[in-house]
Amino acid sequence: MSNSKILVFAGSARAESLNKKLAAAGAAAIRKAGGEATLIDLNDYPAPIYHGDDEDAHGVPENILALKKLISEHDGLMIATPEYNGFVPPLLVNTFSWVSRPSKKGGPENVLKSKHVAVMAASPGRLGGVRVVPRLRDCLCELGCVPVEGFVTVPGAGSAFADDGNLADGAGQKGLDALASRLVKATG
Ligand SMILES: Cc1cc2nc3c(=O)[nH]c(=O)nc-3n(C[C@H](O)[C@H](O)[C@H](O)COP(=O)(O)O)c2cc1C
Repeated sequence: MSNSKILVFAGSARAESLNKKLAAAGAAAIRKAGGEATLIDLNDYPAPIYHGDDEDAHGVPENILALKKLISEHDGLMIATPEYNGFVPPLLVNTFSWVSRPSKKGGPENVLKSKHVAVMAASPGRLGGVRVVPRLRDCLCELGCVPVEGFVTVPGAGSAFADDGNLADGAGQKGLDALASRLVKATG
């Protein structure tokens, strides 16, 4: 057992999100690697599109303060992201824009600083969202995160998951287990 606590989530709020499935498989892989995984759904942390006037008038939304607290209570992050036209999806951009803002209510600050992170992507397409991976890693580095080596992409994700939630492709599952293991080691 390790004492690594990893917060796992997808950059999609969609009920049938393929990236939510990948996040769940990632959480299972973290547990298999001896870490503790907390799987959350960003649907439970809604926030308006970031707007400076909104922040000036109302401060950081309560949901984001709760998410910042949760991030601060974990040693690392594992994120499964969709790729939108090669971009990082707006849900993640918006969430991290808010999370990067200082709380006016004395909450923990710089919650992403030195936070180890593993990046994954799933797509029904042939490339599995491979273009978004380096872009999200870059953004996370700007926020102070430390990406672990490697990544996971899941092409053809509509039929990539077995009934038990793991990746049906043995090599793909091995890659996921290895990524989870590196994250647990980095944070243990
Ligand atoms: C606006 C938009 C842009 C997209 N661009 C890409 C893309 O660049 N590459 C890709 O592989 N899939 C792309 N897709 C398809 C998504 O990968 C697909 O909708 C996926 O299921 C979204 O992730 P989710 O299932 O976790 O919600 C795009 C979808 C949308 C809605």
